[in-house]
Amino acid sequence: MSHPPRLPVVVLISGNGSNLQAFIDGQRDGSLPIDLRAVISNRANAFGLRRAADAGIATRVLSHRDYPDRDSYDDALRRLIDGFEPALVILAGFMRILGKPFVAYYQGRLLNIHPSLLPAYRGLHTHERILADGASQHGCSVHFVNDDLDAGPVIVQARVPVLPDDTAESLAARVQGAEHRIYPLAVKWFAEGRLAWRPEGLYLDGAYRTRPVVLDQAVDQ
Ligand code: GRF
Repeated sequence: MSHPPRLPVVVLISGNGSNLQAFIDGQRDGSLPIDLRAVISNRANAFGLRRAADAGIATRVLSHRDYPDRDSYDDALRRLIDGFEPALVILAGFMRILGKPFVAYYQGRLLNIHPSLLPAYRGLHTHERILADGASQHGCSVHFVNDDLDAGPVIVQARVPVLPDDTAESLAARVQGAEHRIYPLAVKWFAEGRLAWRPEGLYLDGAYRTRPVVLDQAVDQ
């Protein structure tokens, strides 16, 4: 039996790479029709590089410290990525803002995950801000990247409850559990040709959507 072609992807990280691990696991167990061509980090000590190497995936480090400004770094990054000929570029904890030319170049094939129910809580330290506000609900969002921070069209979200005794760490762990479910899901849809960002809007399973798919995350503790 012949298998459908797998989508070539490149993943950009800066740190732990637990979302990357979800992609590695999905590729390995056959649930995700992707071909992880390379993992690129701007930090040499990112643990995710070890996860990639252990899985036999090519790794590269491109340090922003070696470039005088954002445009020159972004250009070098684009050349490095394109050498692997990906159809999709996945930001998975890549802690750098990418400039407008870079984002425009990859528009429609650049995904990010953000730890909040966008458009709420764009930016950093979302778990701390949720707790400070006394919110009862938190979550995460997978979105296409546009040139406004954490503001591209949202594909899928998971709602996660905030529990009375939560710390930023316990909340982050619960949200990350949800991330590891919805990020592979969005990538699977893209790889299967079911998802696209077109001029008319977000297209999923034959229909234009004005709202993301929203999943509820059961508390498993
Ligand atoms: C995730 O929480 C994600 O929402 C944010 O950065 C974190 C990356 O975690 N963008 P990891 O490196 O995938 O473990």
